[in-house]
Amino acid sequence: MRIGSPAATADIALDTIDLADPELYASGDPHTLWHALREREPVHRQTLPDGRSFWSVTSYRDVNDVLRDHTRYTSQRGTLLSILGSSDPAGGLMMAASDPPVHTALREPMGKALSARALAHWEPRIREVVLRLLAPLAEGPLDLAQAGTAFPMAFTGALMGLPEDDWARLAHLTTMAVAPEDPAFEAGGGHTTLLSAHHELFEYFARRVRTVSAAPGDDLTGFLLRMRPDGRPLRQDELVYNCYSLLLGANVTTPHALAATVLALMEHPDQYRRLLAEPALVTSAVEEGLRWSSPANHFMRYAVKDTEQNGVRIARGDAVVAWLGSANRDAAVFPDPYRFAVDRSPNRHVAFGFGPHYCIGAPLARIALRVMFQEIVRLVAEFRPAGPVRHLKSNFVAGISSLPVTAALRDGAAEALAAHAPLPRPEAVA
Ligand code: HEM
Repeated sequence: MRIGSPAATADIALDTIDLADPELYASGDPHTLWHALREREPVHRQTLPDGRSFWSVTSYRDVNDVLRDHTRYTSQRGTLLSILGSSDPAGGLMMAASDPPVHTALREPMGKALSARALAHWEPRIREVVLRLLAPLAEGPLDLAQAGTAFPMAFTGALMGLPEDDWARLAHLTTMAVAPEDPAFEAGGGHTTLLSAHHELFEYFARRVRTVSAAPGDDLTGFLLRMRPDGRPLRQDELVYNCYSLLLGANVTTPHALAATVLALMEHPDQYRRLLAEPALVTSAVEEGLRWSSPANHFMRYAVKDTEQNGVRIARGDAVVAWLGSANRDAAVFPDPYRFAVDRSPNRHVAFGFGPHYCIGAPLARIALRVMFQEIVRLVAEFRPAGPVRHLKSNFVAGISSLPVTAALRDGAAEALAAHAPLPRPEAVA
């Protein structure tokens, strides 16, 4: 998604806004539309040409309310606009598409396995992956967005015990599932692309679960197999859905946080110079990159009863979409919200959501992004554009699909990078 300051909003006819259109996020200007909605109609109803409709909430307060309160807004019927109006088959089986108490029973053990403490020993391995990803910069231009798709596979795939030979294909399939209309991922129409990506991913995890169930290893898949929420093992369908959700959660977000933060640093060179001078700011720069890019663009809920949201009546069964990228520009919470500031503090962004479903992978994503930017600051004096930037055509993932860059390296960086074999390149679907 293109990120900038909003244009004038007074002339925008709110009833013409189409927040579901994937093209808006590839070539349009959603920040201007969100700005208009926050100012003039923070709870806004849209009806699609086929008659399905949904509410949008765009302010920080409303977004937090909707994500937090499962007694009013359920996740069980599905949480993405792409399946608006149809019941999610994973409802009640997959953590992300369940409500307490089912959600709590799944979340508690998985949360322990994915805590910052449990993951600390992975840091050296993540650093090695980062250096392998950056290694081609010593030779010339690198498309950081495309190379970045291999990044989460190399830590989440490894954490889940998935064979390295499968990583490139899985990275492609997970993006097909969230951006089925993007020209680089679409195969036979958006709907067909979504179905075939789901089919192949579910088949893959069904096979994987069968293979490892005889002797579950010491990885996250083995952990899921050994889990006993409510005193019983997870069924095959629960295992498959939760493996899928973990991989999708990591793959479709982390590369975009990386690419969008590098792009923001290129567009704000004073902020990169600040980071070079004060590397301790990397942690807050990562948080600002997350706020700035908000890679998970929306999450959806359904009202479980008639309710009221910010003075607007929402009927039982209505879909409500929380736009995270908009909440993260709310001036009521973020002073000067359209300024990219690596030292922003406080920075209570909602890029990882809010409430019971707050991203379970946040500790892992934070470690990975911190290590990535520590190494970037250590090795790269300056990034320069090496070709046009292309944005992902998706209403769910605010992503960058192409970001060609060259790097002016710091002293000794070329030698440091030469010691690391580049990661395998992402693979196209056969
Ligand atoms: C920059 C990286 C990431 C971003 C921006 C992000 C964003 C989010 C958001 C906004 C939610 C809340 C969903 C909701 O309210 O319905 C979420 C949940 C989730 N994320 Fe992430 N995520 C990231 C990385 C990861 C990683 C690395 C993993 C896997 C290890 C992961 C797995 C999940 C799962 C399984 C859930 C569902 C949690 C639940 O329902 O309790 N995410 N993520």
